[in-house]
Amino acid sequence: MRTKETFNHALVDSATREDLFQVVTYQKFPLTVVRGRGAWVETTDGQRFLDLYGGHAVAATGHCHPHVVAALKEQAERLLFYSNVVYSDVRAQAAEKLVQIAPRPLAKVFFCNSGTEANENAMRMARLATGRERIITFTGSFHGRTADAISATFLGKYRDLGRPNVPGHLCAEFGSIESVERLADEKVAAILIEPIQSMAGVRMAEPEFYEKLRALCDERGIALIFDEVQTGVGRTGTWFFAGSEAAGGVVPDILTLAKALGSGVPVGACLASERIASAIRLNDLGTTFGGGMLAMAAVVATLEAIERDALMENVRRVEAHLRRRLADFSEVKGVRGRGFLLGVEFVSDVAGRLQKRLLEAHIITGTSSDPRVLRLLPPLCLSESEVELFVEHLRAALDEIA
Ligand SMILES: Cc1ncc(COP(=O)(O)O)c(C=O)c1O
Repeated sequence: MRTKETFNHALVDSATREDLFQVVTYQKFPLTVVRGRGAWVETTDGQRFLDLYGGHAVAATGHCHPHVVAALKEQAERLLFYSNVVYSDVRAQAAEKLVQIAPRPLAKVFFCNSGTEANENAMRMARLATGRERIITFTGSFHGRTADAISATFLGKYRDLGRPNVPGHLCAEFGSIESVERLADEKVAAILIEPIQSMAGVRMAEPEFYEKLRALCDERGIALIFDEVQTGVGRTGTWFFAGSEAAGGVVPDILTLAKALGSGVPVGACLASERIASAIRLNDLGTTFGGGMLAMAAVVATLEAIERDALMENVRRVEAHLRRRLADFSEVKGVRGRGFLLGVEFVSDVAGRLQKRLLEAHIITGTSSDPRVLRLLPPLCLSESEVELFVEHLRAALDEIA
């Protein structure tokens, strides 16, 4: 077995050591990133990259937003952690702020640590509130990798990785209300939906679909859950997709958040209506780390930074600019999604090759399960001039691979 002594760290780089000592689970970009600021990250050898992937949709406030960093430093010196068995000023602030910005009837929050955990707890809340067990999700869905969430995931190979799956998960066709109606019987506790399916290639439905889902849930006593792990916290140009025009104004009974919520400090949350929350009794839900002070300081500072820097207004303005610029490309069939969760759809399967070329030009982008779609999840502070840089390199990359 190798020990620390076998390495001369001056000769063996971090990438090699990571691959030697970590279980290799990710196809990585060949970059060792050491610092970041705004929409940019920097590697060990001082090269700068424009990050249109936003650190996996996490860096909504931009990398190392000064307000978030200052709040974390201040909190770290005061108290790193105490669990939910005590009250906390910063937890109270985070909960109050989230509930204030949430569309009604969402009125209570439960904090946890990640997106998958938020979805697990959302499904549990729905089962407790309805006394039913089944959950309907959709073709192309991705809800996480823990047992219940992976069983609710119908994209690609993921669900099989969670075998034996949690029973009672049903799959409807994304965008087809008829297929939901067929499954939505008196055994169904919840319909769980990513209102924009990100990993499936940034797919969204018409507002009428969300409206019909809401009506069906009301009629049949089913809880509606929006998984806003990617769409939440300002990414679509509004605090949440829920309640927006694109959602037909629909607000779910439970809404889950993670990713951007802590600007990179792990945190997840379930927002719930009073009706759902009142069905939850002491000890029905729990977590050691959820609601910890450092994470709560990150939540408060993240929400404040988005407000103070008018980042949602920026998203709407810069999205419109990007769409105008991409309309000039004959290779682009369309731009899916909303705000800064965008899927640039090309006329052929070029997303993988484009991603590689763009990386060579120092621009990080994402792909999806659709080989025609290049996925963009940039920090909400991305500027028009940074869009221009992307457009210039996209033109060059397309010409090269033509
Ligand atoms: C829509 C959606 N839900 C849930 C998750 C799982 O979140 P996490 O990786 O924090 O568990 C993800 C992660 O990519 C996601 O995109």
